[in-house]
Amino acid sequence: DARKQQLREEIKALLKQRNAVMVAHYYTDPEIQALAEETGGCVADSLEMARFGRDAKEQTLIVAGVKFMGETAKILSPEKSVLMPTLEATCSLDLGCPIDKFSEFCDAHPDHTVVVYANTSAAVKARADWVVTSSIALEIVEHLEEQGKPIIWGPDRHLGAYIAKKTGADMLMWQGECIVHDEFSAQKLKDMKAVYPDAAVLVHPESPASVVDMADAVGSTSQLIAAAKNMSNDTFIVATDKGIFYKMQQQAPDKTFIEAPTAGNGATCKSCAHCPWMAMNGLEAVRNALTENKSSHEIHVDEQLRQKALIPLNRMLDFSA
Ligand code: 13P
Ligand code: SF4
Repeated sequence: DARKQQLREEIKALLKQRNAVMVAHYYTDPEIQALAEETGGCVADSLEMARFGRDAKEQTLIVAGVKFMGETAKILSPEKSVLMPTLEATCSLDLGCPIDKFSEFCDAHPDHTVVVYANTSAAVKARADWVVTSSIALEIVEHLEEQGKPIIWGPDRHLGAYIAKKTGADMLMWQGECIVHDEFSAQKLKDMKAVYPDAAVLVHPESPASVVDMADAVGSTSQLIAAAKNMSNDTFIVATDKGIFYKMQQQAPDKTFIEAPTAGNGATCKSCAHCPWMAMNGLEAVRNALTENKSSHEIHVDEQLRQKALIPLNRMLDFSA
């Protein structure tokens, strides 16, 4: 509509004026992803967002996603201003893994290699030996498994269980979960499969094992988009945040994508397959990040912490280079 069109134009002009670029995740709303694409920004998974932000020539990054993504960008680019549409956008994995408790857990097992998911605070990353995202976790844990040292894994227990099963690695799990993926229901998925017997099931490994077990393809957001494009099926049942449908439909316009069922529905589901924090990244919030006082949008990471967190983050980026 006219109001949105005006906002889009305003943001485009502001991005130029402020020497800023958008870095958006696949779970943000379609209008945010489209705007990032149109303005030379990126729409990507967590790993590629980190890389794009680091390599961007612009002085300001507008990170449309959640807080840990903004923090990762700042850790990698301390000289850039990293702004977020709202600093309120967090993640249940980050919230469920406070540094003091996680540190105690690590201290209790000093012989373990500490591997943390990117969906954590800068402080938790600083306590880790390795940071991983879902697109590279399997390869990194395979590599560590060969060295034979036991692993502390945090915070996503479902992703951890999937990786432990695949690699046979000895992994001590932190008990966190993503509120979006944790809600997918294997029982309901079975019923849906009966209705669409030819559909391929695509599952993000933050989902429970019972759902992962039914998958035709398991992977990070970028890997699931590639599967949607490359697999020969016409129809796909997708167990991840519904924001991803924008890119899947764009990459495979003739195919049909159906949301995997959640345990609750309507008023009773918690997230209804859309992350409430990702949803905070509306057009207005993006515009505000470019116009309002920086203090309500800017990400700061303590310099000592940043230097510590940079080590395991760079280990991941070098490993995947
Ligand atoms: P990826 O895009 O790295 O698969 O991450 C998924 C996620 O949950 C981000 O919030
Ligand atoms: Fe966190 Fe899940 Fe939201 Fe991703 S989708 S930001 S893992 S709560």
